[in-house]
Amino acid sequence: MAVIIDGKAVAAELREEIAGEVAALKEKRGLVPGLAVVLVGQDPASQVYVRMKGKGCDEVGFASFQHMLPSESSREELLSLVQKLNQSPEVNGILVQLPLPKHIDENSVINAIDPGKDVDGFHPVNVGKIVIGDRDCFYPCTPYGCQVLINRHVQSLKGKHLVVVGRSNIVGKPIANMMVQKNDMANCVVTVCHTAAPDIGYYTRQGDILVVAAGRPDTVRGDMIKEGAVVIDVGVNRVPDPADPSKTKLVGDVNFEEAERVASAITPVPGGVGPMTITMLLANTLKAFKLHHGIKA
Ligand code: GUN
Repeated sequence: MAVIIDGKAVAAELREEIAGEVAALKEKRGLVPGLAVVLVGQDPASQVYVRMKGKGCDEVGFASFQHMLPSESSREELLSLVQKLNQSPEVNGILVQLPLPKHIDENSVINAIDPGKDVDGFHPVNVGKIVIGDRDCFYPCTPYGCQVLINRHVQSLKGKHLVVVGRSNIVGKPIANMMVQKNDMANCVVTVCHTAAPDIGYYTRQGDILVVAAGRPDTVRGDMIKEGAVVIDVGVNRVPDPADPSKTKLVGDVNFEEAERVASAITPVPGGVGPMTITMLLANTLKAFKLHHGIKA
């Protein structure tokens, strides 16, 4: 049976380290990192995420600035807030919660964020730096969390075959670009497969490490996994609970019961990648603070 990768425990450990650094910075400089989170509209899932980000900031001692705009806000209003945050010295990191209401073009908003405050790692400058292997950038939080978990469970990544299922800008594409780089947290041979593949299993069965971010339950079944593989399940899907159909439960994109019999290690859902995401956002915000204050990382 596979080892269960405890993302919650790793996240707690990292948050403790971040909190320690923040306390020392506060004492030495009288300053703490600040994260601004912008939410447009009232999407319930986004409201939960934004609240969790605020709580994460409190936990490590960051200043948290939450800006809630009504759903009918114009692109211009949002861009003017982003400009203000770009210029604010108390704000080290800016995150505009996605998705935005349909009438606002997401790319134009992402492009307006100062790349040096883009702790989401979505700005084209940060995306480009990831592709060319310039580590002076921000890695998007979910793939960054996956990379940390992979590194804790695989001794030497050099030459390992990492297969990504999914090609989103938030997970699939960045994790592939991060893990193919020649550095000690990566150096993998990377394959990206997605819904256009006639047989996803053809690819996943070759993976020493699988990162599954397809957005659909049961995308990867037990017979699609190589014996001993490390499986990172990024999916979060709410499905009817088979034990009690009046209830729902969260599952990933991987069939967990089947996969844990074949894999050597696997992330559960919930409790795997999820808790790492906000933690890496906090890590990025601390990195931004250090950058803005000329402190060596
Ligand atoms: N919506 C879902 N995931 C994310 C994320 O990582 N960042 C932002 N800004 N919005 C999201």
